[in-house]
Amino acid sequence: MTRNNLFIVFEGIDGSGKSTQAKLLKEKLVKEGHKIYSTFEPTDSPIGSLIRNIFNRRIISDNRAIAALFVADRIDHLLNPVNGILKKLEEGYTVVCDRYYFSSYAYHADDIDLEWLVEANSISQNLLKPDINIYIDVLPEVSMERLNKDRSSLEIFENLENLKKVRSKYYEAFDHLKDVENVSIIDGSRSIEEVSGDIFDKVKELQFVVR
Ligand code: ADP
Ligand code: TYD
Repeated sequence: MTRNNLFIVFEGIDGSGKSTQAKLLKEKLVKEGHKIYSTFEPTDSPIGSLIRNIFNRRIISDNRAIAALFVADRIDHLLNPVNGILKKLEEGYTVVCDRYYFSSYAYHADDIDLEWLVEANSISQNLLKPDINIYIDVLPEVSMERLNKDRSSLEIFENLENLKKVRSKYYEAFDHLKDVENVSIIDGSRSIEEVSGDIFDKVKELQFVVR
């Protein structure tokens, strides 16, 4: 089937290279003439800002409350009448999104049952499933090294032990949803260019063309 615009999601542990690769994919697709809208979760809406304030320790909260805030942030991200993803897709943009509901399944499954997380995200899943979930796989040791180089302070989930858990929860969720989700696992331990080339090939396999 030939598609005109897509919903492309990047997933991976912190420091895996998602934002680097999302930017490169956007540049390559724009060069080919596609209309691209890039976005991310947590968003920069009031709900997303609340989440970021918890992550940088300005506000104290509980992991279960954070998980529920992400569910709300995502629904708003989809349905917001001004700049929501569904609106952008209707306008013909291909949307490239840094994180979506698999992040919920990976980051919160240590405190909350996966069943609840999947059910809580079913509103988003029913509204919009990614055409492709691109999971950039790196070992937590590698991503922690990248983050330590890059940042003066780390967020609450950014420690080696937690990222090991998150990575294994991602794989559990991929297995659990393998019949309903299109997941592409990319080896993110290689050079930025090699990873980007692979991602571009995967997206091109979806056979969408500029009309
Ligand atoms: P994420 O969005 O997944 O947290 P980033 O794209 O911000 O990750 O990358 C984290 C850091 O790692 C940045 O400094 C980035 O330049 C670097 N980086 C990204 N991809 C690679 C790669 N393939 N090899 C080495 N360093 C990388
Ligand atoms: P992000 O800004 O993408 O961080 P990074 O660029 O370092 O990967 O995401 C911030 C944090 O939000 C990250 O630790 C993962 C977490 N997160 C959740 O816990 N649940 C979610 O549903 C999402 C989307 C993100």
